[in-house]
Amino acid sequence: MRGRVTVAAPAKINLSLGVGPARDDGFHPLATVYQAVGLYDEVTVRPARENSLTVHGDGVDVCDVPTDATNLALRAAARLAAHHGVDEAVDMTVLKRIPVAGGMAGGSSDAAGALVACDALWETGTPQHELMALAAELGSDVPFCLVGGTAVGTGRGEVVMPAMSRGSYWWVLALAAEGLSTPDVFAEFDRLHAGSSVPEPEIPDGLMAALRTGDVEQLGTALSNDLQPAAFSLRPELEDLVALGLQGSAHGALVSGSGPTCLFLAEDETHAATLRELLVGSAPTLLLAPGPVPGARVIR
Ligand code: C5P
Repeated sequence: MRGRVTVAAPAKINLSLGVGPARDDGFHPLATVYQAVGLYDEVTVRPARENSLTVHGDGVDVCDVPTDATNLALRAAARLAAHHGVDEAVDMTVLKRIPVAGGMAGGSSDAAGALVACDALWETGTPQHELMALAAELGSDVPFCLVGGTAVGTGRGEVVMPAMSRGSYWWVLALAAEGLSTPDVFAEFDRLHAGSSVPEPEIPDGLMAALRTGDVEQLGTALSNDLQPAAFSLRPELEDLVALGLQGSAHGALVSGSGPTCLFLAEDETHAATLRELLVGSAPTLLLAPGPVPGARVIR
């Protein structure tokens, strides 16, 4: 067994997020295009007699992250051990850079990172399809966080197929001071649609065409998020932030997933830096990130 393993676990954004009517199990059918972006948490595991977790924030408030057995990354470690019938535990450390409850799958990515890290530490050699099945049990976004890149997600988000995509893109990420609960945003979506019939979600053709050709301008106009009105309803200030980016030179702007992080699509890295300047003062934290990047990977 190795002495210690560290995995880089990327944030995800949704280039499109189509949401259908709530299913009987409470989840919503999704048709989404995910992209992993270059903002990473680091998950480190070491052998221990029982599971424990320490969370540090690198510019991110981690007060709301549970460190007990309910934490999704610790659950991932326990689930992998049970899957292999091994009596192993870990001392886990998570260095968080992805905003907590930010709509960027930070917790899901940590869980994907924990699966990859423990599999390497315990040398269990879990086949990819088994890791994907365990990931899907843990949460809707966890399978995508394993594969990364650009991918289509269906089902409740857990059925992931790589998407044909060319080139790379630069994003400005506007992080909010306080997170939004994903269930609250889906509940607000239901409230806003009460009494109306919600169509089954679809992947926009224009978005897939833009990704195939690497046309950043076309991609910008094709970005969409059915949860955005719900996020605006819960956080009205986000509407002004998105409008500011669109009035500026962003090719596209939208809420990331369930929010409150907002995304601005730039032409290239230089343009992203200019866009960030335009947004200074409008959001507490502004970061630049390229995408797509690979999913959770061992780095040390
Ligand atoms: O799958 P995950 O645990 O990340 O989902 C968190 C919550 O988000 C769910 O409990 C549910 O309230 C909401 N959700 C949903 N439909 C989805 C994914 C998540 O309603 N497709």
